Amino acid sequence: MDEIRPEIDQERCTACGTCVEICRFEVLKLRKAGAAPCGIGTCIACGHCVAVCPVGAVSHPLMPAGEIVELAAEPAVSLDDLTDLLRRRRSVRRYADESVPEEALRDLVAAAILAPSGHNLQPWEFTFVTGGRLDDIRAAAAEYYRGLLEALADDERRRGLAAAAGEGFVQAMDSLSPALMLMVRAHDRGGDRLLWGAPVLAMVHAPQGAPAAEASCTYAAANMMLAATAQGLGTCPIGFLGIPATADPSFTGVLGLPDGHVLHVGMALGRPTTRYRRSVVRREPPITII
Ligand SMILES: Cc1cc2nc3c(=O)[nH]c(=O)nc-3n(C[C@H](O)[C@H](O)[C@H](O)COP(=O)(O)O)c2cc1C
Repeated sequence: MDEIRPEIDQERCTACGTCVEICRFEVLKLRKAGAAPCGIGTCIACGHCVAVCPVGAVSHPLMPAGEIVELAAEPAVSLDDLTDLLRRRRSVRRYADESVPEEALRDLVAAAILAPSGHNLQPWEFTFVTGGRLDDIRAAAAEYYRGLLEALADDERRRGLAAAAGEGFVQAMDSLSPALMLMVRAHDRGGDRLLWGAPVLAMVHAPQGAPAAEASCTYAAANMMLAATAQGLGTCPIGFLGIPATADPSFTGVLGLPDGHVLHVGMALGRPTTRYRRSVVRREPPITII
């Protein structure tokens, strides 16, 4: 495939060199007449050159001009405002019986894809599950965890599990087993301690083997959570989906993910029934500045 490079409008270019300096991939070179996309590096389509040009002379074939937003010199959101939003993002485990409009889901994706990604590969894909398929997912997860709990309680099957998945996995599942038991029991009684009754399961996933996909998808999911909070929606990361999704390839089919895709983040999404009125206090983390 031919590499797609930025284009310079030579009429507008003042040869200031700003775009050449910002591009640390050596895609652009400064010539007497102006910048030119004739450097030795490979363009990763990050758009930094487009973003910094003082006279708007740089464009990129992958970035339609009509979709580019001018940014004011100062951010519209102060650190205090951002911190307020970060404080408001809490895991929500009670949801109103109310669907989320498709437009709101698209707004979440728009926020998600502003996240950084390894080598700008943007490996993420988004799947939103609503309606009856959520019941299938809850049922499949309950069956998986029922089997896992039975295996943990049986010496021979425990050894088999440790041989297949590692002693660390068995120990981790031991520590999670009270929560898993509650989840399975709740499911048997018609409750939902997996997705907490949310009307939407939002998933960020990527093709198996996509470089840096886990971190990239996680950053995208964090953006989604904050955007949901700003819209008055609630989210809860659901790590309990990742365990069966990793262990059992058929589970990703139940989730509705494309063949060969890996689930990186699943989250419950919907309108919270309760408002968090005050912030949390976190443990002081170790900070090292060397
Ligand atoms: C990787 C990860 C997996 C999680 N998995 C679950 C889960 O399966 N179910 C759940 O109810 N909460 C889950 N959580 C939510 C955490 O319990 C929650 O983030 C933590 O208690 C802090 O609370 P807060 O999100 O309200 O600030 C998960 C969070 C993370 C980051």
